[in-house]
Amino acid sequence: MDEVIKIILKKKELANLDKELVKKVINNNLNTKIKKLIKEERFKNKDFKEFIKIVRSQLRRQYGAFQNPKMERMELVKKKDYLNLLKSHQSTKERLPYYKDFYNKLWKITGKPGSILDVGCGMNPVSFEYMNLGNNIEYLALDISKKDLEVISEYFRQKGINGSVKVFDAARDDYNFNKVFDACFCFKLFEILETTNSHRLTEDIILKLPAKQVIASFSTKTLSDAPMTKKRRVWFEVMLKRLGYSFETIELANELFYCFKKDF
Ligand SMILES: C[S@@+](CC[C@H](N)C(=O)[O-])C[C@H]1O[C@@H](n2cnc3c(N)ncnc32)[C@H](O)[C@@H]1O
Repeated sequence: MDEVIKIILKKKELANLDKELVKKVINNNLNTKIKKLIKEERFKNKDFKEFIKIVRSQLRRQYGAFQNPKMERMELVKKKDYLNLLKSHQSTKERLPYYKDFYNKLWKITGKPGSILDVGCGMNPVSFEYMNLGNNIEYLALDISKKDLEVISEYFRQKGINGSVKVFDAARDDYNFNKVFDACFCFKLFEILETTNSHRLTEDIILKLPAKQVIASFSTKTLSDAPMTKKRRVWFEVMLKRLGYSFETIELANELFYCFKKDF
């Protein structure tokens, strides 16, 4: 298995991935034939190569497409180069011109939070720079990428924020943190996690989130950068309605945010 993980991680844009995540995706795609090829170390075999392609493309979809491999994040945070740190991740890079205004608008809807849970956080905790909140905020940052979380942890330390990080699989792990957070960010998360069209996973997660207010976002541009014609996620709106949550939206150039209250 270690050898297969190594092969997967040879691609530069995937090199930072958490090995446990890679292992999970490998296991999800294994069949008897591939298991036999691995056992016999026939890594040049056509079917094995096809298997590697599939695993890599799933990982890219879930994680790799958001990385800028040219930027070493730990170096950036050590230099306190927060701007380039935000630029090193596609999602935070796109939000840069709007962050300040966005958080102003968001706090008008939710009130300023004293605690934040950021699920699948990427580099978003570094946008604390634009949140206009005091350092005594309690911030729990969750992501599948251990390496990125080490960067976030260093950022919290430098800023004196009461923050912590946890390697967390949003699709499978337990959401019990012995606390109800004021706000929970699920930015550009659900459509990465969903592998089917049933949206059952998103509903399960929303029900489990230990937060008074949830802010979930969706990209409004296609993978080829064109603006989407239908930006609203009707399935998400129907689901929120069914769960009894009324929502407000905030729209940025490339992203649509839904804000709703949970009953706590
Ligand atoms: C599109 S990025 C969004 C990052 C951040 N929320 C933002 O909008 O700035 C998706 C993030 O989800 C993380 N991720 C992918 N699969 C995950 C999983 N199963 N559990 C937790 N995080 C995951 C990735 O590592 C990546 O940081």
